[in-house]
Order: sequence, then structure tokens, then C-alpha cells
Amino acid sequence: MPTPFAIDPDITVAAAMDAAFYRDPAVWALARERIFARTWQWLGEGAPVAAPGSLAPRTLLPGLLDEPLLLARDEAGVLRCLSNVCTHRGNLLVAAPCRAGQIRCGYHSRRFDLAGRMTFMPEFGGARDFPAAADDLPQLPHELWQGHCFAALEPAAPWNAFFGDMRERLSWLPVDRFVPAPGRERDYTIAAHWALYVDNYLEGLHIPYVHPGLNEALDYGTYASELFRYANLQIAYAREGEPAFDPPAASPDHGRRVAAYYWWVFPNLMFNFYPWGLSLNVVLPEGPERTRVLFRSYVGNPALLDAGAGGALDQVEREDEAVVEAVQRGMRSRLYRRGRYSPSREQGVHHFHRLLAGFLQQE
Ligand code: FES
Ligand SMILES: [Fe+2]
Repeated sequence: MPTPFAIDPDITVAAAMDAAFYRDPAVWALARERIFARTWQWLGEGAPVAAPGSLAPRTLLPGLLDEPLLLARDEAGVLRCLSNVCTHRGNLLVAAPCRAGQIRCGYHSRRFDLAGRMTFMPEFGGARDFPAAADDLPQLPHELWQGHCFAALEPAAPWNAFFGDMRERLSWLPVDRFVPAPGRERDYTIAAHWALYVDNYLEGLHIPYVHPGLNEALDYGTYASELFRYANLQIAYAREGEPAFDPPAASPDHGRRVAAYYWWVFPNLMFNFYPWGLSLNVVLPEGPERTRVLFRSYVGNPALLDAGAGGALDQVEREDEAVVEAVQRGMRSRLYRRGRYSPSREQGVHHFHRLLAGFLQQE
């Protein structure tokens, strides 16, 4: 399929993404294969598989890829990300987190060890060339970072190419000691294309107009954006009296009153670090005009919750949703095709669109 979504690398002349990208269900489906099957996805917390001999089923991109996976830590302590689909007739293997010495399929009792090797199958005595490598469970590349699991079906680049800049920049933050706050979990469903939600996240240009409350906590004049290969960082600085990080001397941000680090990792992960901890947003495309966004909180300093840039997150989210859903309706217009970028405030959106165009062009 031709993908005429080229974006000029020069932001000062570039036209933005064509409305057809957001409108065409065939392009949405193409993005599922060329973008979401090739990028690193969040698989949740690693705590349930911390101990040797533990198993935890996970779904890669629920509502989009729906790939059944299984995190397995063997007795030697090696963590793997296996397929959770039996290699015999395709039954799902493990339904809930558990401790086990082996994986046994409930359908015809095929067994695997925790490294994914098939070890036993009843009534296969006459089968030739059996077992073969294809009878073992396939494995996916995976990464465990600060208690969070990631996996990818066919990654376009190693995990570090996507997340390494964030890992280095925030190496001084004790993210692994942040505590999950299930009571603060929120799932939002938005009547809009997933990329419109991301577009909106990637620019601070709208903050003064859409988020008057947030604007009071931030110093909009010093809001800055940095681009990396598959990620970008927006830094918001705190107004006087608002909560701020105190980055150590080794950090390039030392001496600045950082209110928030907003890290985005292509295509759909947002790591928002506030002085209280981490608000992780996972954008899940469910249909061409339907997106679910998971908000997960990990608290480092409970005393700072509900203050500053990381305070009224629900309010900010509602404000974003309303404008993103209005843009979705705008995409149906016969009179709108594509806009332009602010060279000073929309570098992140331009970068995202260039990545989208690049991934869609790869066969
Ligand atoms: S499907 Fe698993 S043993 Fe048959
Ligand atoms: Fe916003």
C-alpha cells in the first residue's frame, strides 16, 4: 500500500501529518503491523515474577495485538518472555500468576519447562521428527527496567535505542523504590485516533489555553523540549513556591527547579516524572476512532501528591480529552487537510510525525 505521508525534515517549511492518516481505517490497520508490532511495549510490573519458579500471563497491547505472553522466571533466576499459546493446538497455557516447576497445558497435557522447552507430550510415540524446535514456546525480546517489564514482537531497534536516554538522564531517581498506587489507577476511553492523543501530549503550546490550572504551576516561558532518536523529553520548570526536583550535581538539570519530566517513547508510552513519583500513561489503540489510555501511579514521596504540575492530573486529562475529541471531529472535515508546525513549540509533534512516516514506509 502506498503511504504518501512524507514529512519534510525542515520544520520551518514542513506541512503536518495529512488528515488521511487519522481518517483512513486501512492506515490505522497498517500502523498496527508496521508500528505497534515493531516497537517496545509495556508489559506491566515485574514484581509478580521476582521469585525463581514464578509465572505471570500478560497480554501485549490488549485491544490491538492481543498477543498472549507469559513471563517466566526459571529456578536459576533467568527471566524470559514466552508465548502463552500451546504449540500443539493453540490452547492458552497459564491463566493467572502462579509458582510452578513446569508449564502444563490443560487441554492434552503437553508440558514445557520454564525456559519454554517442550518436555513431554502424551500419545506422540509414532510422530516423526518430534519434538522439534517449533514445539518449544517462542520467546520474545524483553527488558526489565526499574521494576517495569517491556517486550516487543519484532523490534525495529534494541530496547536501549528507545529508552536509554531516559534511563541515563534519570539514573539518579530511585524509580525502583516507587510504590504502585492501585487506588490511583485510571483508564480513560477517548473517542479519537490514538495519534491525535499523542500529538496533543507532545506540545506544550496548548497549556496556557487548555490547562489554566496547570499553567499556574508551570513557568511556560522556560518550558523546553529535547528530541532523541525514538523518544523525546519535555521539561517543565516550577514557578516559585511550587514543588520541584532537586537534580544532583552530575545531572545536566542541576540547579534548575524542574517541576516535571515528561518522557515520551515512540509510539505510545509516556513516563511523567513529578516530585511525588511517576505517572505512567499507556496509549492503547482500540479502533480508528477509539483509544484507551491507562494511567498508573508509582509513588516515591506521598507528601507531594496532589501538588504542583503533577497535582490535578485527572482535571488535566479531561481538558486534553475534550480538545482531542474535538480534533477528531475536525479530521472528518472536507475542508481541512493538514496544518503547519510552530518551529519553537511543536518540534515534538514534527518528530513524531517523521517517525510515523518512516515506520509506515518500511515494508
Ligand atoms: S493444545 Fe496444548 S496439549 Fe493440546
Ligand atoms: Fe494537555
